[in-house]
Amino acid sequence: MTKSLLIFSLILLTLAVSSLAISTSSHAQEQGAMYLDVNKPIDARVEDLLSRMTLEEKLALVHADSKFTSAAIPRLGIPRRWLSDGPHGVREDVGPDNWRPAGRTDDFASFMPALVGLAATWNVDLASAYGKVIGEEARQRGKQIMLGPGMNIMRTPLNGRNFEYPGEDPFLSSRMVVNYIRAVQAEDVSSCAKHFAANDQEWERGTINVEVDERALREIYLRPFEAAVKEAGVRTVMSAYNKVRGQWCSENDYLLNKILKGEWGFKGLVMSDWNGTHSTRGAVLGGLDLEMGTEVLPYDRFFMAGAFRDGLNKGDFTMEVLNDKARRNLRQMLETKAIEGRAPGAINTKEHQATARRVAEESFVLLKNENKALPLDVNKVKSIAVIGENGAQLQAYGGGSARIKTFYEVTPLEGILRYVGDRATVSYSTGYSDKPNAELASRATKAASQADVVIYVGGLNHRPNFDSEGTDRKDMKLPYGQDELLQRVVEANPRTIVVLLGGGPVEMGSWLAKVPALVQAWYPGMESGNALAAMLFGDVNPSGKLSCTFPKRLEDSPAHALGNYPGKDGTVRYEEGLLVGYRWFDAKKIEPLFPFGFGLSYTRFEYSDLHLKPSGDGTVTAEFSVSNVGSRDGAEVAQLYVQEVKPRLQRPLKELKGFSKVFLKAGEKKTVAIPLDERSFAFYDPDKKSWIAEAGDFKIFVGGSSRDLPLQQDFRLAKTINLK
Ligand code: BGC
Repeated sequence: MTKSLLIFSLILLTLAVSSLAISTSSHAQEQGAMYLDVNKPIDARVEDLLSRMTLEEKLALVHADSKFTSAAIPRLGIPRRWLSDGPHGVREDVGPDNWRPAGRTDDFASFMPALVGLAATWNVDLASAYGKVIGEEARQRGKQIMLGPGMNIMRTPLNGRNFEYPGEDPFLSSRMVVNYIRAVQAEDVSSCAKHFAANDQEWERGTINVEVDERALREIYLRPFEAAVKEAGVRTVMSAYNKVRGQWCSENDYLLNKILKGEWGFKGLVMSDWNGTHSTRGAVLGGLDLEMGTEVLPYDRFFMAGAFRDGLNKGDFTMEVLNDKARRNLRQMLETKAIEGRAPGAINTKEHQATARRVAEESFVLLKNENKALPLDVNKVKSIAVIGENGAQLQAYGGGSARIKTFYEVTPLEGILRYVGDRATVSYSTGYSDKPNAELASRATKAASQADVVIYVGGLNHRPNFDSEGTDRKDMKLPYGQDELLQRVVEANPRTIVVLLGGGPVEMGSWLAKVPALVQAWYPGMESGNALAAMLFGDVNPSGKLSCTFPKRLEDSPAHALGNYPGKDGTVRYEEGLLVGYRWFDAKKIEPLFPFGFGLSYTRFEYSDLHLKPSGDGTVTAEFSVSNVGSRDGAEVAQLYVQEVKPRLQRPLKELKGFSKVFLKAGEKKTVAIPLDERSFAFYDPDKKSWIAEAGDFKIFVGGSSRDLPLQQDFRLAKTINLK
């Protein structure tokens, strides 16, 4: 080594040692600081920590320093904060400044069924179990914030992200996301309620302006978010890409400051969607607390970095504005035990696999079952033709940000093969690929004609223009010539069981009458095939119910009937107002193909004895009996809908206000109690700017779907209740 190199190395070493000394001694200064005392109240800890921070440190809290992180502040013991997609499991890591997979070998995760399917279980305990899986795996993967659940409403069957959301009804959505979030957060991981708000289509999602009236906004689109904030204490919210009433969601003073933080008292942080921030002033004053994904480098060029600093220095913004944002970020971190550290999590455990399987099993909706075509008797069926691309298609790594690098995925075909073993022969033909294919169709038809039974596994997939982020479907039809294929297959073999994967409804008019059995299977996750086989062969009795209406034709559904999708000149008007999903079909007396809440079982249920018991607050608990009158054990989703008889303002004919999933042995009868509260009768009064349940007459309906409600009772709300 030359002398000059030696001197240079010595200087470097001295610098390194002294900077280490500075950082250790300054970190030591914080030892014993109040914010480190986990027994002190969070508010006090946040204030103490904030009081120790420099301007630069506070600024570091409010913007990203890579695609999915914000910077560490080692002096104060604040670690780098990792965020991750998504709703269905912990996504694979991407490179720090790009979307390319990071190429790690430790970023696999469990692949859970899609949220639309979770909603179709109508089982709130499963929502909790699901959230626990997400939370434990996120902790194991070192993630502090999980970017989900999504809770946008299925306004149109065509939204490319419907599969990520819990369906068309705000009450069902709220019940599911509240339990999901509570369970994630109980694992010391923060959830993120997204996308706030009215991000109900992917078409022009980055520019579209949504015009929605106040009641629809409050009663339909904001309801799940309100529940996530008030009931589940969600710690983070993601603003949507679109505009609402002309204002970007990431700088929407009305949505973020007035409603979310003001009226609902949200104390957590609002982050932008990735590259969804548009201006420094708008974001700073409009209520954004964390800027993510802006496509500029270096990170100091983010809207809420250098330009925010300049604005503070020039006096355009007060320090209090930054303090408020910093506080919200610090609160999220302390609530997630970021500084004291978290216990290790767990990944893809036997329990996680079992939860994935149970959610899948309970999500399947049996839509048709003529002459007991299902379940199949594995001892009587000698040959099975599995037909359809989705029979062998892996689904985990598709759809956009909800993708998962899964440990494994059992396809429907594999599940059937495993289940059947050597008890029957199983053939497989795809029948179609990414376009209609005469050769594949002929082979499939031939296979169908030679088998005892056909299990057709088709539907949608995660390719662009189907269930895929960034694009919507072009129509409500089955793609790739499946309508024609299905007709040929069922002609060749009338014993054709149809299983459809997908995030929502498809038109089925051309073949539905001809097939004996139909199952809506959504995207059932890593245990798809095992769960499906167990249901088809009768080990599992289907108990899912639709979380969205299946219209006969696209034009029957509200946004399309009114020509208000995908919008004109950059604006989409939600002119159907409150009449989303079944509310529209009821009001317009349109017969759906399958109604909201519908789903069959291998057994039958009967409802009886509805009576209402007054409860202390002037409302009631509905009590009734459900009996399993068939010969198999099974579960029924009992649903309760409320109607206001003579509302002062327009109200839907009925709205879901309660449900209970009841497990009943064959022949068993149980009493079910569904408590109602003031919310169950309330609507949003735009003049009074508050929720109100007005004294008057109501009807309460109970039954097994929104169109099969055999029990009915009248209820009189004696006093008007103004809700908080
Ligand atoms: C999606 C979000 C997602 C984010 C990060 C965006 O494109 O809209 O849902 O969390 O990317 O991947």
